[in-house]
Amino acid sequence: MISRDDALALDAADPLAHFRDRFHIPNPDVIYLDGNSLGMPPKRTIERITKIYNNDWANGLIRSWDHWLDMPQHVGDELAPLIGAGPGEVVVHDTTTLNVYQLVHGAIGLRPGRTAIAISEHDFPTDRYVVDGIAEALGYTVRHGFDQLDDVAVVVRSVIDYRTSELVDVKAETARIHDAGALVVWDLSHAVGAIEIDLNGCGAQLAVGCTYKFLNGGPGSPAFTYVAKELQSTIRQPIWGWFATENQFAMGPTFQPRPDIARMLMGTPTIMALAACEVGVQLSAEAGMKAIHAKGSALTGFAIDLCDQFGLPTPTPRDPARRGNHVAVEHPNAKALVHALHSRDILFDFREPNIIRAGCSPLTTRFADLFDGLTAVAHS
Ligand SMILES: Cc1ncc(COP(=O)(O)O)c(C=O)c1O
Repeated sequence: MISRDDALALDAADPLAHFRDRFHIPNPDVIYLDGNSLGMPPKRTIERITKIYNNDWANGLIRSWDHWLDMPQHVGDELAPLIGAGPGEVVVHDTTTLNVYQLVHGAIGLRPGRTAIAISEHDFPTDRYVVDGIAEALGYTVRHGFDQLDDVAVVVRSVIDYRTSELVDVKAETARIHDAGALVVWDLSHAVGAIEIDLNGCGAQLAVGCTYKFLNGGPGSPAFTYVAKELQSTIRQPIWGWFATENQFAMGPTFQPRPDIARMLMGTPTIMALAACEVGVQLSAEAGMKAIHAKGSALTGFAIDLCDQFGLPTPTPRDPARRGNHVAVEHPNAKALVHALHSRDILFDFREPNIIRAGCSPLTTRFADLFDGLTAVAHS
């Protein structure tokens, strides 16, 4: 039998436990198990935003664009090591939705003659909708599933399933998809800041992801785009904005894509949000993805053991190598229960049709949170 004391002992031995002090936690009794949707606010975010407001904006005024202009590339370079990308391969900008749109278009342009896009019908809605919209506009076929790839230009695929937490073998699947002549856009939204990932080592060439979940970038913090070096000079994206053009301030008559990753940019970057995102990225970098991944595995393993103890069914893989940093619990009353627990300061989230997700954010989640939260689910 796992007891609450066992959870406390695991917290006491946790080498990342002290990172919780770096976050603003107004009420220590809140049981927060939804960092996989919205990470907690780092204390330094407020200082950083205040500094940008007071120093850069209020005092520097327009002059501050001298160092704001390349923030998408700069923050991208800081984020790159967290996903196994190199310098100059990542930009932080816009939203995951928009960036999927860009990369699918870009990939299609690199695979002329192929007329299908493959995606799982169970993948996150925005990815599916974007794929459907592009297919409708271009007269392409949407293929659900990844077995038949001979006419597929591009596969769009989440690294971690947003419902079950199942983790794809990125290296093996990238190789299989490339061997079939297609490209793959990986969606790292549930993976970045959660698990160790080595895009370069996996041969992955295209990826996107959001920064407001495990990276603690804040609500609406910008997403990222990764394009491997070897594709950067040939990929074309469909939104020809002035931040993606050569000699931006020459205000030239025609669009000339920049030669590097900056060709994926569009319009004016959201500086405040980028600054908040950068703080979150730096915290994960400081903790290190190896330690973060190890704690994530320990937390999800503990949650699965608790599910077993309480008789709560979970579709989340038991093999730690095959799962991300949340655990799904199937419950006949999932929606009403999540709602009721919110009023008791126990914050899980609900996903259709019957899933309660317990998000395990290694920088902020305590083993005791999982014990208390899942006890509340089991006894409700
Ligand atoms: C896999 C995945 N893709 C995309 C998104 C969201 O896209 P956006 O940041 O554009 O809202 C989410 C949000 O939870 C997600 O889980």
